[in-house]
Amino acid sequence: MPSSSRSFRRVRLHPAQRAIASASERFRVVACGRRFGKTTVGLRTIFSHAQRGRECWWLAPTYGNALQVWRALCVEAASAGAAISQSVRLLDFPGGGSLCVRSARSLDALRGAGLDFLVVDEAAHLPATLWEDILRPMLADRRRGALLLSTPNGLNWFHDCFVRGQDPSEREWRSFHFSSYDNPRIARAELEALRRHTRDATFRREYLAEFLPGEAGVFREPARAATAPPEATPHAQGHYVAGIDWGRSQDYTAVVVLEIPAGSDRSNRRPPDCSLPTMVALERYRGLSWSVQRSRILALCERWRPALLLAEANSIGEPNLEALQDDGLPIRPFQTTARSKGPLIEALALALERGDLRLQPEPTLLAELSAYQQERLPLGGYRYRAPAGAHDDTVMALALAWRACGQEASVHFW
Ligand SMILES: Nc1ncnc2c1ncn2[C@@H]1O[C@H](COP(=O)(O)OP(=O)(O)OP(=O)(O)O)[C@@H](O)[C@H]1O
Ligand SMILES: [Mg+2]
Repeated sequence: MPSSSRSFRRVRLHPAQRAIASASERFRVVACGRRFGKTTVGLRTIFSHAQRGRECWWLAPTYGNALQVWRALCVEAASAGAAISQSVRLLDFPGGGSLCVRSARSLDALRGAGLDFLVVDEAAHLPATLWEDILRPMLADRRRGALLLSTPNGLNWFHDCFVRGQDPSEREWRSFHFSSYDNPRIARAELEALRRHTRDATFRREYLAEFLPGEAGVFREPARAATAPPEATPHAQGHYVAGIDWGRSQDYTAVVVLEIPAGSDRSNRRPPDCSLPTMVALERYRGLSWSVQRSRILALCERWRPALLLAEANSIGEPNLEALQDDGLPIRPFQTTARSKGPLIEALALALERGDLRLQPEPTLLAELSAYQQERLPLGGYRYRAPAGAHDDTVMALALAWRACGQEASVHFW
């Protein structure tokens, strides 16, 4: 989405954008990395079709995407002499062309119209049925075309279209593949910095625009990180933090304790990998009253003396948290929401992938990490969770403990 104030009609398209804009195939499938300039080249193309008298639609996955595009189009409408209908998000051009901006929120409301040209932005993040049952038929009667723009999202319908566009016998189709590096206006150093701070699979999908199979798993080979001793005992100079995930009726409450290496521990007196944050304890309870669970947590803290405990603060968590605070524990709440859970889990996944954190070889934890999934939602964003019927309490406790590692510097030790 053009987030800057630069008009899509005034920018000079870069060579890769020009290749897309000047192609004439009926169906153009464009798989590109983030910030390549997909939306900009799409806007340029659809605007010129509408100016040439065509009936056009822009389809975006969410209302927010659609609104940004609509605003960018309105800025240009007046100079092109187009009338603006705000209520239906429609531009009417002097030569009879029109341009309507829609979001995919209400799929059925999209049925019915015949079209001359269609742009689907972030196409891979829309359901296959939208293309097959609704959009493709709208282009049939007039034999008109479409521009499908997206970052890849696994081997779904957008990938099928992309493969079709690579087949020379499919003359009406053409595919383009560009990474974020193909936008000469993005500094290479910026992309390298992003590469360092992004999980490998995410970088390959989002910036290199690779179609990756089986992307549901979040944690790749977690057993590789299980290099910590299975048993550990606290030592006087140790700095510890903990994460707590409260169990609901059928779930477990899980507590994970991590040791944070103190500066002095980076000396040669210890084996080199001991300078990494290391898991030292995992406890898991089910079927115990809250007061018994709190006593177990107090006993665990008595043993490890964590500088910080980060605990989920949902409806069950809140009263437990307050009771433990009253008992003098350095416990802080973490509000788990759809928005906060993603970064929490992604940070843990990145740490494990980079070998920044050593785990104990706990079978339950390793099994839960292996099974943990991310699911791209039809209208954008990801949902992170255990597969149906499985647990994720140890994953959440570990993720909270890892977050606590980052926050620990700002609290005092006991
Ligand atoms: N050829 C160009 N010249 C100058 N600026 C450009 C050019 N193409 C795009 N931009 C600017 O670069 C930014 C990213 O462009 P755009 O939103 O089109 O990329 P995108 O691939 O759709 O990004 P996203 O992955 O976030 O959806 C915007 O601010 C846009 O105005
Ligand atoms: Mg875009």
